Amino acid sequence: MTKPHIPLDEIRAQVEGCRKCPLADGRTQTVFGVGNPEARVMIIGEAPGKNEDLQGEPFVGAAGKYLNELLAVAGLVREDVFIANVLKCRPPGNRDPRPEEIELCTPYLREQTRTIDPEFLVTLGNFSTKFILKTDIGITRLHGTVQRAGKFKVFPIFHPAAALYDGSKREALENDFATLGELLRASEAERAAEAAAKAAEPPHVEQPPLL
Ligand code: URA
Repeated sequence: MTKPHIPLDEIRAQVEGCRKCPLADGRTQTVFGVGNPEARVMIIGEAPGKNEDLQGEPFVGAAGKYLNELLAVAGLVREDVFIANVLKCRPPGNRDPRPEEIELCTPYLREQTRTIDPEFLVTLGNFSTKFILKTDIGITRLHGTVQRAGKFKVFPIFHPAAALYDGSKREALENDFATLGELLRASEAERAAEAAAKAAEPPHVEQPPLL
């Protein structure tokens, strides 16, 4: 895999310097992203809420606690994944960032994605899914199906926060995280088989010229 051209610390420093953006009004800090820089799975949420703003980490509130349970369904823990958001901060009450605000913020996600270089981008909810896939098709149709964005496999899933006020989403969320676990195990098995086949190949011996 090609590895990053911009180190995470550098991107973090750039994000911390973006306080002039109107999105930063009312926020105490920008919320960058956390997790394993070698992750095969990058989880992409929408934007930090109140708890995230206070603690400086994505998904630390009620939705984050539920996300932990869902990761376990896929056989993952937080330390296995990298978690980021499309937007790095958002003023309270601003549920609808303007296109120009999104445009200011999103280069950081693009760099984070290139730097982590995961196999799967798991997009949580409509905003993140539509943003990554550049589509108008909603999460209700796309969830639980593997999509593509360039070199990345994209796996859209309902936002865990949606299940906190609409219990009927829980089943779909849990099934989709179970499917994610299966996809990861299948791809791991495929890689192991390829590596074993390669190791079993007879060594290539240079032949001397016939003359
Ligand atoms: N919801 C999100 O989309 N992101 C967070 O970081 C927290 C809640």
